[in-house]
Amino acid sequence: MTASFPPGFLWGAATAAYQIEGAAQEDGRTPSIWDTFSHTPGNVAGGDTGDIAADHYHRFRDDVRLMAELGLGAYRFSVSWPRVQPTGRGPAVRRGLDFYRALVDELLAHGIQPLPTLYHWDLPQELEASGGWPERDTAHRFAEYAGIVAEALGDRVETWSTLNEPWCSAFLGYGSGVHAPGRTDPVAALRAAHHLNLAHGLGAQALRSALPARARVAVSLNPGAVRALTRSPEDLDAQRQIDALATRIFTDPMLHGRYPADLLADTARLTDWSYVHDSDLAVIKHPLDALGINYYTPTVVSAATDNEPPRRDGHGASEHSPWPAADRVAFHQPPGDLTAMDWSVDPTGLYDLLMRFTREAPGLPLLITENGAAYEDKPDAEGAVHDPERIAYVHAHLAAAHRAITDGADVQGYFLWSLMDNFEWAYGYEKRFGAVHVDYATQARTPKSSARWYAEVARSGVLPTE
Ligand code: FCB
Repeated sequence: MTASFPPGFLWGAATAAYQIEGAAQEDGRTPSIWDTFSHTPGNVAGGDTGDIAADHYHRFRDDVRLMAELGLGAYRFSVSWPRVQPTGRGPAVRRGLDFYRALVDELLAHGIQPLPTLYHWDLPQELEASGGWPERDTAHRFAEYAGIVAEALGDRVETWSTLNEPWCSAFLGYGSGVHAPGRTDPVAALRAAHHLNLAHGLGAQALRSALPARARVAVSLNPGAVRALTRSPEDLDAQRQIDALATRIFTDPMLHGRYPADLLADTARLTDWSYVHDSDLAVIKHPLDALGINYYTPTVVSAATDNEPPRRDGHGASEHSPWPAADRVAFHQPPGDLTAMDWSVDPTGLYDLLMRFTREAPGLPLLITENGAAYEDKPDAEGAVHDPERIAYVHAHLAAAHRAITDGADVQGYFLWSLMDNFEWAYGYEKRFGAVHVDYATQARTPKSSARWYAEVARSGVLPTE
């Protein structure tokens, strides 16, 4: 059986600025927290940094041509805040904005719809020096920056996203410390989560006031597909607690204008949440035009027992948990084949999330803004890169998305993570998520077999039988 996707379905691929652009010190760009973090020994595998990355800043025209050859209808990228507004305050840098203007023009000239994300984790280092996301002012700085980018690109970009995966920014950045800025303070992480929510709301307002009425404002979250190990009340309670910290801490304020009562109770011994001001929730609930869902793998939890196996929540090794106040929760390896990240392959998690938000936010269009897998891809003797596992992964997840559409979910697009191999954060260049292989010594791009396969799906709108 083949599966046809609805007409107008967006077939895209995604990247993020720090992961591909390089040119870290060019044209007025100042360091972001990821420059500082990756240049600090011990933080990133192999000592890798994003200084050069895939050199996309200089090669974007070739990269857009490649996207067109691969039949992509849309491209999700992120705007580097310190390239556009160095230090995160004050006037914009023209050359920084010119890069994104040129990128967008190039995409449009090739019939590819641009979907910029304003924040994919590269906070200007100077804002971190003033306290970073745990401080309220950072949300206001973000809104100012959002307005600057909207003014510059608003005439040619229709669909915008404010933040990418604020969960990672807050809890990996300030909780477990495996991401920049590498702080390990659970209260700072909760404060960061709130100020990211506020940044989303203020940023959405700034976008709206600068953009034409037809523009769509979205956010990309990584809601958890959290499963309980057993149906025991204790395990179900662990699931509830992690669901609150992974998902509802963002979706409840954004969709319903409230923080979950159970989250406030679970974390009461750490914080009184007094940094949430009265008017904040109304701001955060700014109407969304689409919800972006990033999904890779599910999470399995139980209540902790005395002989706990090591925590395996797929978010890197740290003695500090990214889950504030959840020290009585144990994480388990979910069943299924593993990718090179040791993430289990389970497309039912994607289906479940699409159906959950279809029920929770009726009428809100959904976009799968990231999905994909890392494998140990190597060129063969002829230089070709065969990645049948990635094809199988994407196939299975597209089938799950199609099933959700059949069951009533308004899924309007799919963005493969990633267009090309790139700087995979704390894993450096070791993990390859690309449909296009990058040889970092020469910067040569080689479409893997998955890229050819995906191009055919995108061209036809039909998912073939496996
Ligand atoms: C997501 C990030 C993206 C990439 C993928 C593998 O959490 O948004 O930048 O690292 O994971």
